[in-house]
Amino acid sequence: MSLPPSRAELSEWLAYLRDLGVEGLRVRPDLPRATPPTAASSAADRLRAIREEIGECTRCKLHRGRRNIVFGVGDPGAKLMFVGEGPGADEDARGEPFVGRAGQKLDEMIRAMGMERREVYIANVVKCRPPRNRDPQPDEVGTCAPFLFAQIEAIRPRVIVTLGAPASRLLLDSRDGINRLRGRWHAFRGIPVMPTYHPAYLLRAYTRENRQKVWDDLQAARERLDRDP
Ligand code: URA
Repeated sequence: MSLPPSRAELSEWLAYLRDLGVEGLRVRPDLPRATPPTAASSAADRLRAIREEIGECTRCKLHRGRRNIVFGVGDPGAKLMFVGEGPGADEDARGEPFVGRAGQKLDEMIRAMGMERREVYIANVVKCRPPRNRDPQPDEVGTCAPFLFAQIEAIRPRVIVTLGAPASRLLLDSRDGINRLRGRWHAFRGIPVMPTYHPAYLLRAYTRENRQKVWDDLQAARERLDRDP
């Protein structure tokens, strides 16, 4: 995948050149100056490139049953990113993540953080609907995960909230269950990650105790965003 380098990659290259003894880079005065892209616009370009790379994907068996690839939605410059598991029937029909009942619950969770859906970025572990909404299988996750990782690198949010076990396990490279993982900070490639329950689980088990746990996780994420704006 040929994506433009990220800021982190560029600064690594510059450090490497410095180590080699390069003392400066000269800008040719005869070339027109490109206006430096804003963080948000270059993230948008990178996301477009990732989407193009995915194309009309047939890399795994999930493509057979899908209607739409559900790439991701939101602000390419988002400070907060949510990662779910995979599209359900509504998402498959619309081509957008979290638009069904679980999506309404996620919208509530976002509002509880004092934010709006359009301010965040939302993506999933797999981009095609698993049959009968089963969990994505390891080969499907393995095939699709590089695209999610590329989306995260493109956006470099300040905080990621993983929704449920599959997303949490993937980003944290863990086999633990969500009850062990949620409620404390982890990291994915240097980005703080707070796992919490999937909104579909909350719909099924809407107890005071579970609501409190999700509230605590989201408040921790909110505080972290406020602390490192
Ligand atoms: N559940 C998910 O994990 N993702 C969606 O997009 C919708 C429901």
